[in-house]
Amino acid sequence: MCGIIACIGRTDTVDRVVEGLENLEYRGYDSAGIAVRNDDGVAVDKHAGKISELKHSIVDELPDGTIGIGHTRWSTHGPPTDANAHPHTGETGDVAVVHNGIIENYDTLRDELTAEGRTFTSDTDTEVVPHLIEKHLEDTDDVETAFRRAVDELDGSYAIVAVAADSDTVYAARQDSPLVVGYGDGCHYLASDVPAFLEHTDQVSFLEDGDVAAVTDETVDITDADGESVSRERETVDWNAEETVKGQYEHFMLKEIDSQPNAISNTLQGRIDGDDVVLEEFPEGTFADVSAVQFVACGTSYHAGLYAARLLNKLDVPATAHRASEYASGDIPVSADTLAVAVTQSGETADTLAALRLAQEKGAQTTTVTNVVGSTAAREVETPLYIRAGPEIGVAATKTFSSQVVTLSLLAERVAEDSPVGTVRSDRAAFLDALQRIPEQIDEVLERSTAEHVCRSHVHDDAYFFIGQGTACPVAKEGALKFKEITYEHAEGFAAGELKHGPLALVTPDTVVFAMFTGGDRDTKTLNNAKEVQARGADIVAVAPEGVDLDECTDEVLRVPSTHPDLTSLLTNVQLQLVSYHAANLLNREIDKPRNLAKSVTVE
Ligand code: G6P
Repeated sequence: MCGIIACIGRTDTVDRVVEGLENLEYRGYDSAGIAVRNDDGVAVDKHAGKISELKHSIVDELPDGTIGIGHTRWSTHGPPTDANAHPHTGETGDVAVVHNGIIENYDTLRDELTAEGRTFTSDTDTEVVPHLIEKHLEDTDDVETAFRRAVDELDGSYAIVAVAADSDTVYAARQDSPLVVGYGDGCHYLASDVPAFLEHTDQVSFLEDGDVAAVTDETVDITDADGESVSRERETVDWNAEETVKGQYEHFMLKEIDSQPNAISNTLQGRIDGDDVVLEEFPEGTFADVSAVQFVACGTSYHAGLYAARLLNKLDVPATAHRASEYASGDIPVSADTLAVAVTQSGETADTLAALRLAQEKGAQTTTVTNVVGSTAAREVETPLYIRAGPEIGVAATKTFSSQVVTLSLLAERVAEDSPVGTVRSDRAAFLDALQRIPEQIDEVLERSTAEHVCRSHVHDDAYFFIGQGTACPVAKEGALKFKEITYEHAEGFAAGELKHGPLALVTPDTVVFAMFTGGDRDTKTLNNAKEVQARGADIVAVAPEGVDLDECTDEVLRVPSTHPDLTSLLTNVQLQLVSYHAANLLNREIDKPRNLAKSVTVE
């Protein structure tokens, strides 16, 4: 939630900041603003609305300058209004601040500052920060000292970037909210995420909790929480800048759906050798003392965790998936032979991080399956496992789900072969061979899908249900989540067998039920469940592998190529992604930026 970008040292700073905000809009998009610092002081322009709608007015309003900070917001404190948009300033307007996170003691600070006669103009927690910096500047001329003193008074989570009229240095602080430094050509960037400046540099350092950075066009000085000078490793980000632009596509979501063959090929690269799984991060024997696995995750990543739990259970390893926010309540038993896996595309989801930390406190072995190198989750475990999907900009996760499931399939194979309770698949060679064919089979789905045609017949239905058994069950839930996220229509995903135990009451002739088949031995049961809803007048759309006999009982069929039954649901999910995409497009929805949602939610 919320995106920060700063550019220090360019004459076209405002354009770069606007560009960065557009690249970060997936993190939040209810208001945006920029502050420019030049020899005349600090100028701010900010408004409610999307950056894409505001950029021309913002650029026109702002003076030239070589230092700019910008923010795109997803509201937590106060509604999306001009006043609540960032940057925030204090009494004099000489200090401007952008912030991501939540300042938990802002009430107390605000009361104290108000009692001293300072006036607040917004409902945000952030506004205390520029007031605090200004207050400390009354006792010192040194902006860094004033910034540090202000930050020391804050409780909560924050990535903060500040500029002041009297300084050509930009100050930044990080606590439980990501902040990355980008090293450009004669300039520097600060941002909450790499895509903000990836077009200009792939050279980065990730700040750590407690760090304060002082950044000019030529220097980056980082000190830790004790004020000691530290160096943070400079890394090269292995992402392609082309992935952060829409190119010929109308929406990032469709671009990202189409890029799945490539993303999965990257995920698999070098990780399968004959019938061996080769995970550099986890060589054979790593999980020799693991006898249970718990996946903790939110949203789409939770569905990937559910999928992986099913795969592990089939290999005799007890495995469960937990919604991270529930797991963090602390009631789930954990022991030293438990492996807790945080599944998180961004590596920054607060609920997932809380669950991961709890598992660590309780003595579990931990890892994370994530897309973002240097993310908090990646840094908080000894060895992260990367899904290598490349940057995903559409708020609705697509390619990262597929890459998560593929990565988790490999991890499941490794755990099952190492664990004393696990069993190696009898058809392992066939399974790994099928996994390697998934990219070309997704290509086939993309070329032949009739999802758009199916959507045209059902776009005005009352409700959309998705049912499946085994690995098709998490994908039914994921299909429904995707559908509701971007169409705003009522959609639910159920275990197929569960439909008759309640949800059937919701089924009417204006309901459509998507029934997922895997080519496995539960398909007959799913077919029976489909017939139960059809008897109540609902239309059935089957999503099934070639060759599965549907007994002519379905109204329409979306076919997927035949593969290993444990992997069919990966292909099925691509059909469901297309169903959601085309339905949302027909309904004219904001596909890449659905209302009320943010791609990365960094508050619990
Ligand atoms: C938010 C997003 C979802 C995402 C979830 C988990 O709720 O809107 O699309 O699945 O966070 O994100 P993560 O980065 O942890 O995978």
